[in-house]
Amino acid sequence: MDLVEVAETTNTLHVCSHVQYNTPDHITPTNVHHSPLEQFHIWFNEARSAGIREPDAMSLSTATASGIPSSRMVLFKQLDKHGFVFYTNYTSRKSKELEENPNVALLFFWREMSRQVRIVGRAEKVSKEESEAYFKSRPVGSQLGAWASKQSSVIGENDLANRLKKFHERFGVTEDANEVDVPAPDFWGGWRVIPNEMEFWLGKPSRLHDRIRYVRVNGSASDEEPQWKVDRLSP
Ligand SMILES: Cc1cc2nc3c(=O)[nH]c(=O)nc-3n(C[C@H](O)[C@H](O)[C@H](O)COP(=O)(O)O)c2cc1C
Repeated sequence: MDLVEVAETTNTLHVCSHVQYNTPDHITPTNVHHSPLEQFHIWFNEARSAGIREPDAMSLSTATASGIPSSRMVLFKQLDKHGFVFYTNYTSRKSKELEENPNVALLFFWREMSRQVRIVGRAEKVSKEESEAYFKSRPVGSQLGAWASKQSSVIGENDLANRLKKFHERFGVTEDANEVDVPAPDFWGGWRVIPNEMEFWLGKPSRLHDRIRYVRVNGSASDEEPQWKVDRLSP
């Protein structure tokens, strides 16, 4: 295990980590896929095969209308030809920020592979049908959790447990009930992040990393066949 070295003075913690990244592979504008979504697909499958824990965990950054940012982790649930889908509560802080400012950034870091993927784009809500279909596939416990949580609001000590009990009763969920049909709440659903820019980063010794950036060059985010400008960036 790489232990992070620190030096502590009275008021300051200095971190002296010099973990070296050293991947044997190389990425260049000519050996990556012409579509960054396809390139992501390849890297995601490699991360899965390498046994990375939670390769689907990504940082999601949103900002208020006036530009105050906030980040948190979410799980990405679907990649299609338009972008990345995650699910959440539509009254949460992140959703409120996305309603007023759809500009968004995602970040994946697969540490054991020295790989990072950055995504900048715009978020739009997925259709109600898509959200309902995904909700149905979730375990009953998560379905009830979605009903019980007024995500991001201030709560008292017993509020969550009380709400959970209320929804167990409302939907007739008991320990021996196998087939319970819990409907999707209308305050819960998916967001699709449609990328305008994506960057693939590969860690190299002496901080001389490979960075390949794709920028969408044509038209609107909903184009069926977007064109991408691909460049190498200085580390
Ligand atoms: C690995 C990981 C995965 C998470 N996945 C989700 C998710 O898919 N959806 C979600 O709403 N919250 C998820 N969370 C919780 C969020 O990080 C966050 O606490 C919550 O969504 C409230 O954020 P907000 O108040 O900024 O809206 C996850 C947390 C972690 C650490």
